[in-house]
Amino acid sequence: MSDIVTVIAPVNIAVIKYWGKRDEKLILPLNDSVSATLDTSVMCAKTSVCARPDILENEIWLNGVHSSFCNQRLQNCLTEIKAIARNQKSVTDEFLSWNVRICSVNNFPTAAGLASSAAGYACLVAALAKLYKIQSDISKIARMGSGSACRSVYGGFVRWHAGVNPDGSDSIASQVADSSHWKEMRVLILVVADTKKHISSSKGMTCSVETSELLKYRVEHSVPKRVKDICEAIKDRNFSNFAEITMKDSNQFHAICLDTYPPCVYMTDVSHKIVEIVHKYNEINGDVKVAYTFDAGPNACLYLLEKDISDVLSLIRHMFPTSSNEFVKGLDAPETNKTDVLKDFPMKPLEKDLIKYVIYTKVGDGPKIINDE
Ligand code: DP6
Repeated sequence: MSDIVTVIAPVNIAVIKYWGKRDEKLILPLNDSVSATLDTSVMCAKTSVCARPDILENEIWLNGVHSSFCNQRLQNCLTEIKAIARNQKSVTDEFLSWNVRICSVNNFPTAAGLASSAAGYACLVAALAKLYKIQSDISKIARMGSGSACRSVYGGFVRWHAGVNPDGSDSIASQVADSSHWKEMRVLILVVADTKKHISSSKGMTCSVETSELLKYRVEHSVPKRVKDICEAIKDRNFSNFAEITMKDSNQFHAICLDTYPPCVYMTDVSHKIVEIVHKYNEINGDVKVAYTFDAGPNACLYLLEKDISDVLSLIRHMFPTSSNEFVKGLDAPETNKTDVLKDFPMKPLEKDLIKYVIYTKVGDGPKIINDE
């Protein structure tokens, strides 16, 4: 047996956001969150791990660059996996004493500000769990790397239960529905041209917990009902309910960012234009056909059904003229220059290249082991 395990793992985009920790060290959230896992054929992290006696110290390579192993969260994940392996006696003590080499790459630009740490930690933990042959819930371990990573260990629609135990033992993710449940669901990520430096999610949420009064209201009053309602909307494949809750939750999350002192401003003018366009589009259709959600950055993530992809991509192309000849990446896009959708649209196209490109993808499965020879 060779000792290399390689795994690919997906990105997830929350529809009910995680924002705020009750325990910074263990990464325990204040509220439940819900997300969709995105197809690894379009975006994924890929991680190879091995343990050998001739590796002098633990090593990590990120996108081809040798990085130091002093990251505390990374060390916590490895320590936890080894502790479980020791407990379960799943590998020998000798194997446990060897150092590890980790090589991780993303197949999408990290500069795009997309949820790369979620995919990265889910991938790392899935690979280490396989290497050390542990049988255990890995969402709990991925959570120690980055909170949102615990949702990337499952495919489809996923709920992260905040839990109440101080040791985090019940702060785990579970699947709401698998990727085949709502086959028509599609996702467009609008990568906004942007040069601003942003406050990291970790820093931003710490500051919100310390200063935002709205955050307390959100955790106690808004999220519990929203989580219940959106899980029902997912089970019933009720797009308009799903979409409305998603948009309201994104808006509330960004309201909390502004209520934070000093404020965390993640959305830009272009982000706000996208919000306006989506609401206009839904309004003239007399139906909710598209939902937006924004994480801690200016990029928009749109949820919509496959039947509306062609119209919505045509609208985006029209509203955001581009000089790129590869504007839509990812899945094969249908026609994107339909003119009938633009006929009555009451807004004028914006200036060129405000959106760099669009990633077209869908809901997909959890991590996959691609070799463990
Ligand atoms: C806005 O999971 O990146 O994307 O736990 O500190 O690593 P840490 O934070 P992280 O926060 C994600 C915040 C979010 C919302 C979400 O994905 O639920």
